[in-house]
Amino acid sequence: MTATQRESAHAKINLYLHVTGRRADGYHLLDSVAVFAGAADVLEVEIAARQGAALDLRIDGMFGAGLVGDDTTNLVVRAASALRAWVGADAAALPSLDAVLHKELPVASGIGGGSADAAAALRTVMRAWNLNLPRAELINIATGLGADVPVCLDQVPTRMSGIGEILRPAPVMPQCGMMLVNCGMSVSTPAIFRARKGGFSPAPDLPARWDTLSDMVATLSGLNNDLEEAACEVCPTIREVLSALRAAPGCRFARMSGSGATCFALFDTPEAADLAQDAVARPGWWVWSGDLYRKGCAA
Ligand code: C5P
Repeated sequence: MTATQRESAHAKINLYLHVTGRRADGYHLLDSVAVFAGAADVLEVEIAARQGAALDLRIDGMFGAGLVGDDTTNLVVRAASALRAWVGADAAALPSLDAVLHKELPVASGIGGGSADAAAALRTVMRAWNLNLPRAELINIATGLGADVPVCLDQVPTRMSGIGEILRPAPVMPQCGMMLVNCGMSVSTPAIFRARKGGFSPAPDLPARWDTLSDMVATLSGLNNDLEEAACEVCPTIREVLSALRAAPGCRFARMSGSGATCFALFDTPEAADLAQDAVARPGWWVWSGDLYRKGCAA
């Protein structure tokens, strides 16, 4: 690794999210299909001319204001610390790193921005330090940083279960357009889990593939985001966002992602999603439209 390394940290969207149980430690067991949108934060990492395996982080971008790079709670910093701890005493000889995080995804918004940043940091720092972690070890470290971090490592459509650490391929799915809308309110994940009423939903049987968007929408319509109702209680504007999306021309399906408040809509094509932007936009809302992220394709 020589020049600046850039890693895109794509928004994670939960097409559905069933809460299937609860662990003794309070974490919830989930079943979900996560996909990734073209929208992304970008992490840039450069090897510094000093040793000690420290990561120095600066944050900018549309949603970077008020986020503090040297805050040890920042998941990028914590990802580097976790890898340093894995290396142990030998880490003292590793180079330190200068990182810049361009924060373009809304924070605390149900699309895994912080988790995607942490996963991008794990990928980049492993490369910078030439670390070859066994996959199980990497998943362990990722899960320790956050339940959504493992799925963000590969950024491909994934069926996730456990608290987010059990990963299997998602049904093969068609390309389609997507819109993301966030009403500008941060939502706390623990608060939404606490506010959730109702029992547990089973993990559904899913087909091996969805050949068309209609097939995919037919399946998704029979499933839920079990956190949506609680999130709408805490942040009623989410209902407005969902109504605006469902009324938009060409919208085939809309739902909240993760613990909210960001909602997504599916369209036949990215162009159809782009065309619907004006019908959805409201002052203060973040609206993104484009493609599902396909690894190796558009960033
Ligand atoms: O793992 P992460 O830090 O993203 O989770 C934040 C909080 O969300 C947890 O402390 C927990 O309260 C809740 N959570 C949960 N079950 C999950 C994921 C998160 O209860 N599977």
